[in-house]
Amino acid sequence: MIFPSSLLLSLIPIVAGGACRGEGLPCETVYHTVTCSEQDSNVEQCAAALGTCETVCERISVAAYDSPCLCNEDFQGCDGDTCDYEISCVGTINCAAFENAVHCSVTRGCKWDPSAEQITNAAPSPTLPPAGRSEAIQQYLVDQGISTRAALEMTGSPQNYALLFMAVNDDLRLEPPQGGINTTAGYEFVVRYALSVLFYSTLGQRIWAFGLNFLEPTSVCDWHQVLVYLDNSTEFRGVSCDLSSGHPVALFLNQNNMGGSLPGELGFVTTLREIDLDFNNIGGTIPNSYQQMTNMVDFFAAGNRLEGPIPAWIGNITTLENINLSTNYMTGELPLSLGNLANLEGLALDNNLFSSNVEDVFDSSMVPGLRNLTQFYLENNQLTGTLGDHFLREMTKLEYLDISDNYIAASIPLQLFTLPALKVLDLHDNDFTSMPTFFQENSNLQLLAMQKNQLAGNPVPTSINELKGLHHLDLSQNFFTGDIPSSIGDMTNLTYLFLAQNDFEANSIPYWIEGLTNLQELSLKDTQRTGTIPDFLGGLKGMLLLDLDKNNLMGTIPVSLGDLENLSILLLNRNNLTSLIPDTFSSLSSLKLLYIDANDNVQGDLDVLFCANPTFVAKPVIVASCDICDDFPGCCALCCEGSTECNTAIHVPDLDPIWQLGYNRVFFTFGREDYLDKNRDPNERW
Ligand SMILES: *[C@@H]1O[C@H](CO)[C@@H](O)[C@H](O)[C@H]1NC(C)=O
Ligand SMILES: *[C@@H]1O[C@H](CO)[C@@H](O)[C@H](O)[C@H]1NC(C)=O
Ligand SMILES: *[C@@H]1O[C@H](CO)[C@@H](O)[C@H](O)[C@H]1NC(C)=O
Ligand SMILES: *[C@@H]1O[C@H](CO)[C@@H](O)[C@H](O)[C@H]1NC(C)=O
Ligand SMILES: *[C@@H]1O[C@H](CO)[C@@H](O)[C@H](O)[C@H]1NC(C)=O
Ligand SMILES: *[C@@H]1O[C@H](CO)[C@@H](O)[C@H](O)[C@H]1NC(C)=O
Ligand SMILES: *[C@@H]1O[C@H](CO)[C@@H](O)[C@H](O)[C@H]1NC(C)=O
Ligand SMILES: *[C@@H]1O[C@H](CO)[C@@H](O)[C@H](O)[C@H]1NC(C)=O
Repeated sequence: MIFPSSLLLSLIPIVAGGACRGEGLPCETVYHTVTCSEQDSNVEQCAAALGTCETVCERISVAAYDSPCLCNEDFQGCDGDTCDYEISCVGTINCAAFENAVHCSVTRGCKWDPSAEQITNAAPSPTLPPAGRSEAIQQYLVDQGISTRAALEMTGSPQNYALLFMAVNDDLRLEPPQGGINTTAGYEFVVRYALSVLFYSTLGQRIWAFGLNFLEPTSVCDWHQVLVYLDNSTEFRGVSCDLSSGHPVALFLNQNNMGGSLPGELGFVTTLREIDLDFNNIGGTIPNSYQQMTNMVDFFAAGNRLEGPIPAWIGNITTLENINLSTNYMTGELPLSLGNLANLEGLALDNNLFSSNVEDVFDSSMVPGLRNLTQFYLENNQLTGTLGDHFLREMTKLEYLDISDNYIAASIPLQLFTLPALKVLDLHDNDFTSMPTFFQENSNLQLLAMQKNQLAGNPVPTSINELKGLHHLDLSQNFFTGDIPSSIGDMTNLTYLFLAQNDFEANSIPYWIEGLTNLQELSLKDTQRTGTIPDFLGGLKGMLLLDLDKNNLMGTIPVSLGDLENLSILLLNRNNLTSLIPDTFSSLSSLKLLYIDANDNVQGDLDVLFCANPTFVAKPVIVASCDICDDFPGCCALCCEGSTECNTAIHVPDLDPIWQLGYNRVFFTFGREDYLDKNRDPNERW
């Protein structure tokens, strides 16, 4: 369950945690990160998010840690002394000013007042522990093979801190058990110790966003909090136990600003079935002791700083159903033992540095074993090789396959298009040079992304219309020649059609586009289009993006385009248009970006149409030639002289305008929500 991140701004923990813990440790900074999501990605909402942040400091940091949070005057919500914040931008646009900012990450935090901290930690334990208690615990942990003596004795190590906690600071005072880890008392003791090590190893005492009641003198089953959001939805975080056994079965520690690394000790908490560490800053490798966690069903550690390979023993944890290691720094080849995981449904290894040859992944014993896999994400790695004939032949349940942004070469096998359940096939940004020349009927496939390869074909196969279910077809940035096949006009479910930057034969804008009445995004950029812009485009009422950049279009801009009530992006630049901008454009109230530069002669009163037009809540980003812009000071975002490289400028939405314009293009989400709701329409908007 991923909450819209705007909600994170308003987290208000019901349960206040204890004070900063740990013997004499500095309690430094509590940061809270906010990322404006695509949903609320416009400037006002980003700015509003900033505003809300000011209360976060007060509510979260103080409540969660119950310690004086002292802030400077920048934080209205906190009175006191020191507080710092920083604003950083994930996108490329000046975020500090929030001008056109879309993806803004706001990090704010409160600095602990060290003197207040000392007061909190100053009170000594009322009863000093019996001499030898610490030694007894240490001996037990060493005997059971949980930690090494060296780690336990090293001052400042997580193990040393956890030992100190168990021996001295923990008011629960568990006795070192008589029996081993397999006894009830032994397991309880080891679990408490292991979770304490996890706390210290991931810098719980210093940087966790929420303390989650860890290290309270209660059962570990109470080491959790229920967070309440402003919309009154709640989220459980921390340790979750099975009621009958009393053992921990899940750890929900996502988005908690954890750092450090994963401790091997956690591997002894073998009753765990789910671990969710998504979106933290945990580094290091996956400890080998985790191969003992043979009840694991879901392991999520996406969005961390994990390194090293996926250990081969993972293939022995056959209970696994979902693994998400997306967006880490993991390396090496994918172990073939993954193929033993016959229950696996979701495997997300995207955005790492894995370097397998895809022949080993798909043609070896690995993939045939993954019979239950429905989602397979390998995008943005360093995969090489070619896709062979046997590719994926057993994967009859596979619905989502994303191998984009790798170095996979040669042909795209026909086999892929015959997988019975496949809905999403993303192959973009690889080194593919050919694709099937003949398609068989397939009504399941909804998204086919093949842009940024070296595909050639004269023309694109006519039988592409056998992919009858396609909503989304992207063939951009390849080497297709010939005429664009009119059979695409049969694919009336298309909402997204990108044919940009191919070497098609010079021809007019295809007449059959008129029949694609569900179209929302159309790019014919740099496709040698000639003639005039047809009126019928104004009949495609759902259009959000129309990109005709860099063609040889002449004549006037059709009045009918003013009927496109939802049009957000209109790119008519680099053509040979001679036109007054139609008056009807003054009602294009959704327009966010208009490019009209580098034409023969396009004129218009930009103020009346857009900049001084009350229909526009926010004036659109306009890029036009300087002759026009000069007449309307402050209206254009950029004015272009003939020689100016306007079209490489930052405003150009490239193929993903969402980053720069807050424009929600049709997009497939590959989120955990998919696990929860397998029937959801993958084409739905965020
Ligand atoms: C605990 O029990 C399991 C089997 O249930 C056994 O494999 C393991 O060796 C035992 N561990 C110890 C420390 O006794
Ligand atoms: C949340 O609950 C409070 C108290 O019941 C109520 O006043 C408030 O309107 C609720 N907020 C939302 C967004 O439902
Ligand atoms: C998987 O388990 C088997 C049986 O216990 C063992 O022989 C094998 O070494 C394990 N594989 C790995 C990679 O650890
Ligand atoms: C695969 O999934 C089905 C249900 O979808 C389940 O019954 C089965 O146990 C799973 N595992 C294997 C190995 O087929
Ligand atoms: C087109 O979409 C509609 C509505 O989603 C669906 O009922 C229909 O089956 C689709 N057509 C094809 C050929 O898949
Ligand atoms: C324009 O967008 C709104 C909101 O998404 C939608 O309800 C409406 O149907 C759209 N208009 C057209 C003509 O598609
Ligand atoms: C652009 O149009 C003008 C006349 O309007 C014509 O002279 C010129 O050749 C055209 N340029 C191109 C590239 O078509
Ligand atoms: C994996 O986690 C990342 C980050 O949370 C998320 O964006 C992605 O959708 C997840 N993938 C799957 C298949 O759940």
